[in-house]
Amino acid sequence: MHADKKILILGGAGFIGTTLSPFLKECGYDITVVDIGWFGNHLPNNIHFIKADIFDLKINDLKAFHTVIFLAGLSNDPMAEFSPKDNFIYNTGLPAYIGYLAKEAGVKRVIFASSCSVYGYTHNRTFTEDDIAISNYPYGVSKLQGEKALLALADENFSVICFRQGTVCGYSPRMRLDLAINTMFKNALSNKEIKLSNHKIWRPILGLTDLCNAYKLGVESDLEFGQVINLSSFNTTIGDLAKQVKEFMLEFCELEINITDSHVEDYRNYKVSTEKAENLLRFKAVQDGLSIINDLHKNLTHFSDFNDESFYNIEVFKKLMMSKPIGS
Ligand SMILES: NC(=O)c1ccc[n+]([C@@H]2O[C@H](COP(=O)([O-])OP(=O)(O)OC[C@H]3O[C@@H](n4cnc5c(N)ncnc54)[C@H](O)[C@@H]3O)[C@@H](O)[C@H]2O)c1
Repeated sequence: MHADKKILILGGAGFIGTTLSPFLKECGYDITVVDIGWFGNHLPNNIHFIKADIFDLKINDLKAFHTVIFLAGLSNDPMAEFSPKDNFIYNTGLPAYIGYLAKEAGVKRVIFASSCSVYGYTHNRTFTEDDIAISNYPYGVSKLQGEKALLALADENFSVICFRQGTVCGYSPRMRLDLAINTMFKNALSNKEIKLSNHKIWRPILGLTDLCNAYKLGVESDLEFGQVINLSSFNTTIGDLAKQVKEFMLEFCELEINITDSHVEDYRNYKVSTEKAENLLRFKAVQDGLSIINDLHKNLTHFSDFNDESFYNIEVFKKLMMSKPIGS
């Protein structure tokens, strides 16, 4: 296998990695995953999987790779708020450490899974990467600082792409039911009810198919230095998303769904422009709400035990922390 086909995916046994790793393998890349296994390992057998803490990697371990994709860390607000200290260790310190190792090892590119959460609470304007990102809660702050740590290392020989991802939704063999559409879909089926915190809140949604295509474009691009790039399939209010799930349930599952709204203030509200991804990477989103709901419906038998705690990151994380505080 040619050296530029070798990709190391850190945190690749998570929700995104379990879909992205086989996708890139199918595209002809030689994939190695390093993951500590908080949520088990649901990767296919043909993916080279190393169960390890990324903090234990050394420069030599990265020398064989052309590209490193960073999908690790604490991946939502509840985890970050449960342990802000670990959140900063894993979401800021860890990407900084990996940037250092990768550059020393001669890796050509690091792609960092950042988040549109960095935009915090915005007021009805579509945000581009040039707008100032201000968030004041642990997850958003830590992802922005993770970006900055990596971007500081970028140069003509070491390219850094920070993908600011919208909320990623859809089916993955390592399933999460704590993500916008996935949660609504589960609640509609199990309770015939979708409880909204506030129907007016805006979110960019990123389908897993669009995400995979974007990462392939990122891997194959000739971008130099550092780039921050928004990734989203579409922007929507939470209320409109819930209506789509409700309509789907009526038409395809013969279920009448009740939508409730507690009208609480959120600290995140943003919609983003994907013009930069379109211009620099030729990214073209193909997914909409219905295609993501369809994907969930088609794969329902694989995650129909809604009580499985591993589908809810915070439940697994609380137990991990109680048995062995991870940052101790
Ligand atoms: N899912 C989303 O909606 C979303 C949106 C924006 C950004 N992101 C970012 O994308 C990335 C992946 O998200 P996901 O939904 O797949 O998360 P996930 O929680 O399913 O997966 C994270 C994986 O990282 C591993 N991990 C964490 N720390 C590790 C360490 N020190 N060593 C080895 N492995 C470690 C975990 O075991 C887990 O398998 C995260 O960085 C997240 O912040 C996710």
